Amino acid sequence: MNDHRATTTGPARQRGFTVWLTGLSGAGKSTVAFALEAQLAAAGHHVTVLDGDVLRCRLNRDLGFSPADRQENIRRAAEVARLMNDAGLIVLCAFISPQRADRALARDIIGAELFIETWISTPGAVCEQRDPKGLYQKARAGLIAEFTGVSAPYEAPLQPALALDTSAIPLDQSCRLVLAHLAPRLKK
Ligand code: PPS
Repeated sequence: MNDHRATTTGPARQRGFTVWLTGLSGAGKSTVAFALEAQLAAAGHHVTVLDGDVLRCRLNRDLGFSPADRQENIRRAAEVARLMNDAGLIVLCAFISPQRADRALARDIIGAELFIETWISTPGAVCEQRDPKGLYQKARAGLIAEFTGVSAPYEAPLQPALALDTSAIPLDQSCRLVLAHLAPRLKK
């Protein structure tokens, strides 16, 4: 297999990398990702968001929520992130990605040095109380099978680069913490 990866040695070419946001439904992954995207773009960086809900409407619309389908969802997202990183983009991935093994797969695909695992660690009870889409209520009523945190597992990261509890700190502080962590890469 041709495993060539594009180089990023051109003049003023931004180096791509991936911030992988994992956490329960309602934890705040998408909110943090889109706020970060706006701040990075405003600072002149080429950045995009890959969001689970969005990809599942198009590229991954054939996939459900069985463990095998979730793994395929993460694999495809990671392959897309890798291509975008190779093209110089910063990619912000927002996926529940509940299995450690699937996140390890994403790390392998993207490359460990380009993969920044960020745990949106908002507690399950808070996510369930927020229930922005009413999915927890439906899952508790037995209307959604294999719902993460209710009837399907979530394996918390063991050594995330960052952990952000969006019920404990405001959004702008979450963004500051991520941007501070990224600062050395953004200077390159
Ligand atoms: S995964 O586990 O990484 O493959 O999931 P992801 O692609 O991030 O998609 C999560 C969104 O799908 C909606 N949804 C469910 N989530 C979890 N379990 C079940 N069974 C389920 N069914 C639908 C839900 O809106 C998730 O969006 P977020 O933004 O995480 O709340």
